[in-house]
Amino acid sequence: MHSDIARRTVDEYILQGRVTINGISISEPGFKVNPAKDKVSVDGVPVKVSTKKIYIILYKPEGVISSVSDEKHRKTVVDLINIRDRIFPVGRLDYDTTGLMLLTNDGDFANKLMHPKFRVNKTYIVSISRPLEERHKVKLENGIRIEGRKTSPAKISFPKRNDFTNVSITIHEGRNRQVRNMFEHYGYFVRKLHRSTYGKLDLSGLKPGGWRFLTAVEVKSLITD
Ligand code: URA
Repeated sequence: MHSDIARRTVDEYILQGRVTINGISISEPGFKVNPAKDKVSVDGVPVKVSTKKIYIILYKPEGVISSVSDEKHRKTVVDLINIRDRIFPVGRLDYDTTGLMLLTNDGDFANKLMHPKFRVNKTYIVSISRPLEERHKVKLENGIRIEGRKTSPAKISFPKRNDFTNVSITIHEGRNRQVRNMFEHYGYFVRKLHRSTYGKLDLSGLKPGGWRFLTAVEVKSLITD
C-alpha cells in the first residue's frame, strides 16, 4: 500500500537505515529523489514522497540569522517556523535587519525571484546617522559604483515629514549588504534597516517573528507581475 510521507520524515527514516530508493539502501539524508521516477520504500513498503510546495512570508526580527543552519548555533529564520517541511529563505537579510522575508521549498521559485531579470522591487526603511543630503540622494537614486559595479536606479523618499534621517529606498537588486553599503559609501552610518515590502507584499497583520502561508494569488503576483 502507498502512503504519503513528507520529505523531512523520509530523512529521519534514512538515518534509521529504513529507506531504499529503487531497491538500493540509502544512508544520506537530503538524498535527491525525483518523485515522478524514483521508487522509495520504507521498511520495504513503497511510499509516495509528498511534493507539496510551500510559500511563507515571515516578519524577521532582529538577531536572527537568515539561513537554514548556523555553525555558531544562533537562531535561524527556519527555527521560527514550526513546520516539518524542509524550507529555506529566498535571499538574505543581515542578522540585525528586520522585516519581510520569503521562505519556500520551491527552488525554481526562489531562483526566479533572485534573478536580476525579474526586477522585483523591495522597499527598505533605513534609519541613518545624519540627514540625507539632496546631492547624495540624487547620486544614490541614479546609481553609484560599489565593488566595481554600478547599482541600478533606486527610488528614495522620506516617510516622515521634515525627518531626513528616516529614508525609504526601493531597489530591485539584492547584492550583499547593498543598502548598508550604499549609505555608508557617503559616510552615513545605518542605525536600523527594515524591509517593508517585497513586490506587492507587505507585513500587514504580522508581528516580529510572525509568519503565514502566502495565498496562490500572492505567489503568482511575485513571479508574473
Ligand atoms: N541591504 C542590506 O544592506 N542589508 C540587508 O539585510 C538587506 C539589504
